[in-house]
Amino acid sequence: MPDGGPFRVGLLGHGTVGAAFARLMKERADAIEAEVGRRAELSGVLTRSRGDFADILERSDLIVELMGGLDPTRDYVLRAMAAGRHVVTANKQLLSQHGEEVFDAARRGQVQLRFEGAVAGVVPAIRVMSETLAAAHIERVHGIVNGTTNYILSQMTATGATYAEALREAQGMGYAEADPTEDVTGKDAAAKMAILARLAFNAAVRLDEVSYEGIERITPDDIAYAKDLGLSLKLVGSAERIDGAVAVHVYPAFLYADHPLASVNGAFNAVTIESPAITEITLSGPGAGGVQTASAVLGDVVSAMIPPPSLPPPAVPQRIVTDTEFSFYLHLEVADRPGVLAQVAEILGMQGVSIKSVVQKGLGDEARLVMVMHPVLESSFRAAVDLIARLDFVREAPRVIRVIEETFD
Ligand SMILES: NC(=O)c1ccc[n+]([C@@H]2O[C@H](COP(=O)([O-])OP(=O)(O)OC[C@H]3O[C@@H](n4cnc5c(N)ncnc54)[C@H](OP(=O)(O)O)[C@@H]3O)[C@@H](O)[C@H]2O)c1
Repeated sequence: MPDGGPFRVGLLGHGTVGAAFARLMKERADAIEAEVGRRAELSGVLTRSRGDFADILERSDLIVELMGGLDPTRDYVLRAMAAGRHVVTANKQLLSQHGEEVFDAARRGQVQLRFEGAVAGVVPAIRVMSETLAAAHIERVHGIVNGTTNYILSQMTATGATYAEALREAQGMGYAEADPTEDVTGKDAAAKMAILARLAFNAAVRLDEVSYEGIERITPDDIAYAKDLGLSLKLVGSAERIDGAVAVHVYPAFLYADHPLASVNGAFNAVTIESPAITEITLSGPGAGGVQTASAVLGDVVSAMIPPPSLPPPAVPQRIVTDTEFSFYLHLEVADRPGVLAQVAEILGMQGVSIKSVVQKGLGDEARLVMVMHPVLESSFRAAVDLIARLDFVREAPRVIRVIEETFD
């Protein structure tokens, strides 16, 4: 890479983020030059209808990948690094499915690979975890890493809207895609949590090792009853160390009001990082959007203009576990007759599940039982719920949502 001349940036993708990035880099060129002593210039743009990858690669010091997807993106990114070019990407699919291959290629090519825009938009979770907290022993990360679902749940909470109504509104506001599947099923958040787990624990967690559950089945009732118990509902990603292993999940969860993520509303994202050395740090801000993500991508480009490179160390083999302890909320529609609560409590007790709080409401000859449990192994709780579902007085399939208990006083 010649020093002194312009720093040549090849841009792959010119859609929502790519076009915003090209604009922002032009706008900020003077300020960047004043800061790092070199001018950043676009050396070529690739879309489906214009540009040639090999030609752009030849003329670039760094490749910004904003095409998304795996194919041909993975090939382009690997080729760029093999040719000694730094890469900046916002592609969570690529990193959560081929992360180790991509990190290895960066190491072999002795180039930088930066990806702040891949998780939580402009919230600097990647930088803080891989630089500021590089010496901290991170025990757990909780994140609201999908703005679409956070917006939908916030609207359901604020207005009592159904899931379908809130989704339509999110689509109208541009917060949800026409096909919202990746977001509402939790898959998008799962990919981001796999990336955060890689950085937090130095464990190679692939997307298919993250269990995820979405928000499609959440009802206004769940939210209304939770309010009675002092809880608010979020789609939460969790990545934690458990007995020498690593567990990564995404699930709708109730949070007590003083949890740092409980007040993160709308399309915002937030990440809470826990380590004995620091207690807890929560970072929050806009989770997506062309300009916001482009700003994170440009920050990575500026960092890459200044050596030394920052790459996570090679992953070490670690066990990934899926059956872990959670607190649960259980919502039952039952016949209103004596002994119902006692029978439910007995089954829970047999599986080692203890009840923390109960709300019971009579509705004519039916009743609604809403309970929060103390932490218990998920398999034990699910076994109890399977038995409860078969009781003759249970009118509908039981509803189960996790509850996150921690607060940091
Ligand atoms: N949108 C956000 O708010 C956001 C936030 C965080 C991260 N991201 C990530 O940023 C990346 C880009 O997202 P986006 O929303 O900007 O996507 P987008 O609007 O769909 O733009 C994709 C761009 O890539 C080009 N492209 C796609 N496949 C190509 C191929 N095979 N060859 C050449 N060009 C190709 C498209 O070309 P055409 O113009 O010819 O179609 C388009 O210019 C994704 O990895 C996404 O996950 C997005």
